[in-house]
Amino acid sequence: MSEQHSVKIIGSVNDFDAFPAHVKVDNEPHYIVEAPRKDGEPQRYNLISAICPHAGGMVRPHLNELVCPLHYWCFDLATGEATNIPGEQLACTPLEIEDGQFVVKA
Ligand code: FES
Repeated sequence: MSEQHSVKIIGSVNDFDAFPAHVKVDNEPHYIVEAPRKDGEPQRYNLISAICPHAGGMVRPHLNELVCPLHYWCFDLATGEATNIPGEQLACTPLEIEDGQFVVKA
């Protein structure tokens, strides 16, 4: 019996020329960001929610972070991990590239 995976297309890779890139997924704001990588590894990407887990503010890119303007929680731009509130995290999903499209597999 084969496993069924759902694939959600986020957008064409060629439509994005800089990251973080703001996108809507299921009508919710997100950012496509460059994921951490080691030397020599191909660039990978994450899809990070733009909705702050504290009280729903809209985070915005600032230097190497995503910053919530409501109470200034700050999150790593590559992983969504909070940098000033231990244990907090923006929802983060790895993206894959298939046929020139950013996709999320569930
Ligand atoms: S809602 Fe984002 S820090 Fe409070």
